[in-house]
Amino acid sequence: MAFTIAIDGPAAAGKGTISRAVADHFGFAHLDTGLLYRAVGRKMLDGIAPIEAAENLVAEDLQDDSLRTPEVAQAASKVAVIPEVRAALVDFQRAFGRRSGGAVLDGRDIGTVICPEAEAKLFVTASAEVRADRRFRELIGNGLDVRFDDVLADVRERDARDMNRADAPLKPAADAVTIDTSKLDIEAAISAAISAIEAKRGIS
Ligand code: DC
Repeated sequence: MAFTIAIDGPAAAGKGTISRAVADHFGFAHLDTGLLYRAVGRKMLDGIAPIEAAENLVAEDLQDDSLRTPEVAQAASKVAVIPEVRAALVDFQRAFGRRSGGAVLDGRDIGTVICPEAEAKLFVTASAEVRADRRFRELIGNGLDVRFDDVLADVRERDARDMNRADAPLKPAADAVTIDTSKLDIEAAISAAISAIEAKRGIS
């Protein structure tokens, strides 16, 4: 049985945590599609042309420890603007979405472009300040020396680029359920997501 759950939203809204919990709950496979763009961004920083990097991506490229850094996040957002980079990553994501046993994909364009036929679609969001605060605590917790204002500026810059690009911009699918996590703790956000998906499972 294929059942696809598409989870989109801006940086640091809680997509990753919610997606992993939802995949665990339903026993589905999970793909963090941001990692694909981060791996291409990492290669661009290493001097490889982004289109070539995207066309030759291999599984080990997703294991790199530096993929979670703010520098790589910005590079990912920049390569994600290039239509040929996006095109090179489409088939892998679509095949993952239709695997038997169910799949959860999180990203920016899953419900709109990659899996428009997904059985359940969520758009997970939060205010820029709340998202920057979460990211700031996470980076400090990982021992990085960062300022809140810089993290907020970074979040805003990435939002603007992800939402305003011509190809597959970040936006909710018309049939997505929006979950605003600004005032929700992790447990409440996860249970809102599971309830929204259960409602779709019932009618699919
Ligand atoms: O989800 P993330 O923060 O790891 O994503 C990093 C960047 O990759 C994000 O700023 C834009 C890009 N991205 C994208 O364009 N489409 C996706 N489906 C996932 C990520």
